Amino acid sequence: MPLSGEPLDFTFNGRTVRGYKSDSIATALARDGVKSFSRSMKFHRPRGLYCGSGRCISCVMRVNGVPGVRTCRVPLEQGMVVQTERGFPSTRFDLLSVFDSVFRRQFDYHSRFIRPTFMTPFYQYVVRHLASSSRMPDSSGAFPALERKSCEVLIIGRGISGSVAQARIQKAGVRSLIIADRQVGDVSAPPSTAFGFYESGEVGIQVGSGLKLVKARSILLAMGRAETGLSIVNGDIPGNMLPEAIHQLTSRGISPGARAVLVGTNELRDRVRRQLEAVHSSIVAEVQDASSVVQVLGGRAVRGIEYSEGRTSKTVSCDLVIQLGPLVPAVELAQQAGCELRSSGSFWTVRVDAEGRTSVPGVYACGGITGLIREDERISSGEAVALSMLRSRGGP
Ligand code: FES
Repeated sequence: MPLSGEPLDFTFNGRTVRGYKSDSIATALARDGVKSFSRSMKFHRPRGLYCGSGRCISCVMRVNGVPGVRTCRVPLEQGMVVQTERGFPSTRFDLLSVFDSVFRRQFDYHSRFIRPTFMTPFYQYVVRHLASSSRMPDSSGAFPALERKSCEVLIIGRGISGSVAQARIQKAGVRSLIIADRQVGDVSAPPSTAFGFYESGEVGIQVGSGLKLVKARSILLAMGRAETGLSIVNGDIPGNMLPEAIHQLTSRGISPGARAVLVGTNELRDRVRRQLEAVHSSIVAEVQDASSVVQVLGGRAVRGIEYSEGRTSKTVSCDLVIQLGPLVPAVELAQQAGCELRSSGSFWTVRVDAEGRTSVPGVYACGGITGLIREDERISSGEAVALSMLRSRGGP
């Protein structure tokens, strides 16, 4: 049963749009049929909802006077003022996208804007305006106040291993704070993203449209594995999406597209198929070998895909391309914390001892970011790390 909740009205580029209480800004816009969310920094290529999990910058807009807001991570509120940022005269129709066709991806600011030298101030002005994402905030008061919090245990991630550890730790009566780095199944909770690990040992967290700085005695990193896209021509224009974006839309009863093509493969494939079926989106082709994709067709949005099958080339008309790239351990925060990593062939994982301790005192890790894939292994690692954390504070 898709969530909706009470209707909420907000303005998008001056136009009144209706969303619902369960929406993020991005899902409300998608529900309204908006496809162009932003433009790329250099070539001004169109961008739409892509990852749905706060890991790219395709959905950034100006919200209530604050620039650069990832709209897929901010719950919709009544009366919000939402504006697209890049593009001249608009994000949807951007004359600056001429850079994309003229320079064919070979445009180097460093070598092209250097002569004659007396023109440097002018060049700087032009390049800054081409590349910058936005105007300055309307006022310093436009930013949400920073809230400082402290707790005994901070758990970042709400996958299997993090949830198992959380249950154990809370059962022991410890005050823990859970951060869902990605929403898994629960679209009613405000999305939260741990975005920075600072030298003070504090973790920066965005919860909805608010910001927190959290200091914890011990920190458990359980961010699991992150979805990745595929390197395919035109794989960035609106209509290309990763599985979490599909989840964000379909769980609210929004169809991400009428005709979908699945490219690549990973363990989320069956879930994506079920979600598309639930909103009556048809899967018109599946191309497991991403290297056989010649290109995604379309300018401002996806309108088809061309791929080879044996010696023949096929073109399929579609409005949605779902990229099923490899799931890779989400080690960015662990890197910021200074945790030692190890290479597991094509990706990095966090090095832990048998009790889930990383190389940084007070920082633990479990589950997918330590390289575990099987469910039973991730459950055991959540159990083991919880016991280890409880022991370190003199618990059972
Ligand atoms: S950050 Fe919102 S779509 Fe990627």
